[in-house]
Amino acid sequence: MEIKALKPAEMTADVIITGFFEDDKTLNDIQKFIDEKFNGAISKNILEIENFKGKFAETFALPVVDKKILAVGLGKKAEYNTDKIREIAAKTIKTAEKLSKTNSVAFNIQRAEGECGRTLGCNLALGTIIGEYDFDKYKSKKNENKIAKVEILTETPEAFADKMEKAKITGEAMNFTKDLIFEPAEYATPAKISEIATELAKENGLEIEVFGRDELKKMNFNAFLAVGQGSAQEPKFIHLKYIPENPKKKIAIIGKGITFDSGGLDIKPPASMLTMKTDMSGCACVLGVMKAISKLKPDVEVHALSALCENMPSGSSYKVGDVLIAKNGKTIEVDNTDAEGRLTLADALSYADELGVDEVIDVATLTGAVIVALGNTITGIMGNDDEFVKEIIADAKEAGETLWQMPILDDMQENLKSDIADMRNTGSRYAGASTAARFLQNFTNAKKWAHLDIAGTAFIDKSYKELSKGATAAMVRTLICHIIK
Ligand code: BES
Ligand code: MN
Ligand code: ZN
Repeated sequence: MEIKALKPAEMTADVIITGFFEDDKTLNDIQKFIDEKFNGAISKNILEIENFKGKFAETFALPVVDKKILAVGLGKKAEYNTDKIREIAAKTIKTAEKLSKTNSVAFNIQRAEGECGRTLGCNLALGTIIGEYDFDKYKSKKNENKIAKVEILTETPEAFADKMEKAKITGEAMNFTKDLIFEPAEYATPAKISEIATELAKENGLEIEVFGRDELKKMNFNAFLAVGQGSAQEPKFIHLKYIPENPKKKIAIIGKGITFDSGGLDIKPPASMLTMKTDMSGCACVLGVMKAISKLKPDVEVHALSALCENMPSGSSYKVGDVLIAKNGKTIEVDNTDAEGRLTLADALSYADELGVDEVIDVATLTGAVIVALGNTITGIMGNDDEFVKEIIADAKEAGETLWQMPILDDMQENLKSDIADMRNTGSRYAGASTAARFLQNFTNAKKWAHLDIAGTAFIDKSYKELSKGATAAMVRTLICHIIK
C-alpha cells in the first residue's frame, strides 16, 4: 500500500474521507476547499442530511462528479483523542473499499486536542494499514477492492514524511506478524519459521543463527528439548541479531515459540486446543519487531530469540514426574506437560544471560490465568524492576496498546516447591500468571527483565477498536516504540 501526505489541490483519490464531530460541524480549511471544489457538497448536502449525525465511526457517502465524499463521524469533541484516529481510519477504510473504483482514498481527519499533525499522519497511516489487513491466503476468492493508494491531506506534507514512514514500517511489521500467527501449525513448523526468519535476516541485513536438536543438546537446552521431544518436528532455536555501530544499549527480546500446543500428555480439551496454532505469537512478535528495526536502524543492539517446538503427546513425549536439568543447571520436576511455555522460555532466558545484555523482555502466550485476570484487551506485564516495568507500560500507551502490571513476590516460589527437584513447573490454581512469571525469574540474572503475557491479547475472537478479529500482532508496536524512542 502506498501512503503519502500531500496538499489538497494535488489529491487524485476518488474517495475523500472527511471527519465531522457530533457537536461541532465547523468546516476546517480542507473541508472548505472540498466544499468549494464540489459546489457546496458539504455545506448544502452533508451538513443538511438528517441521517448523518457525526456519531463515532458513522459514515455517509455522497457522490460528487467523478468522486465520492465519505463523511465519517468522530463523535463528541470532548471524547475524541489520538487513539480514536487509528480506529476511525481502520473502520472507514473498509467502507471506502466498496466505494472506490480506483482503489484509492484521501483522508481529511481532525487532529485531537494537543496532537501535532505529524502524530495525526502517523495514526492515520497505521490505522489504515491495520484496517486493510486480512489473511486470505487460503481463500479461493480474494478481495479485489483493497485500497492500494492512500493520500493524507495536509498543507504541510514535508513535515509528515519521517514519522509516517515509521508508522508504515510498524504497520507492515504487524501484518508480517499476523500472517505468521494465522498460518496453520502444519505449515508454520519450527523448521519453516526458521527458514522465514533466515530469509528475513538476509533481506534486511541482519545476522542469524539457527540451532537444531544436536547443537541444542550440546548447549544444554534440556528443558526446551524435553517439551519438543514428543513431536515429529525437530525443535529449532533462532537467534537474530541487529548490531549497529556504537550501540547505546544492548537488549534481548524473547518470543515464546510453541508452534502447536496440544498440552502434551496432559492433553487439552478440544475447545482449549482450538487456537493453539497461535502459541507462537511471541515468536511472531519478535520477528516482526526485527523486521521493523532493521529498516528503522536505531542505535540499540537487539537480539531476538525464540525456542521453537511443538508440544505433542506420543510415545516419546516428556512425562509428568520427569526431572529436567535446565540450561542454567537448576532442576525442574514436570508437574504438568501443558505448562510447557515456561520450560522453553527458561532455557531461552539463560541463553540471553550469556549474551550480556542490559535488558531482557519476553513475550509469551503463557497462561490462561492472565485471560481470567485481564481479558482480551490488556496484556499482563511482570518484572524484576518496577521502574523498567513502568517505562514499558508508558511505551505501550504511546504505541496505542494497554499493559497492566501484575505482581511477582519472592514467596510465590513456595508454590513451586518440589519434593525431589529444585522446583516444579506449576503452582496452585490461583495467581497463575504471577506464578508462571515467578518460575521464569529463576532463569534470568538480567538486572532489567520484563515478561509480557499475551495469552489473552495475541488472538481475539471479536474485533476491538482498530483490531479486527484473529491475530492482533500484540506488543509489536510497544516493543518498536520501546526500542526507538
Ligand atoms: N499456551 C497455553 C496458554 C494459553 C491459554 C494461551 C489460552 C492462549 C490461550 C499454555 O501453554 C498453557 O497451557 N498454560 C496452562 C498452564 C497450567 C497447566 C499451569 C494454563 O494456563 O492453563
Ligand atoms: Mn500449554
Ligand atoms: Zn502453551
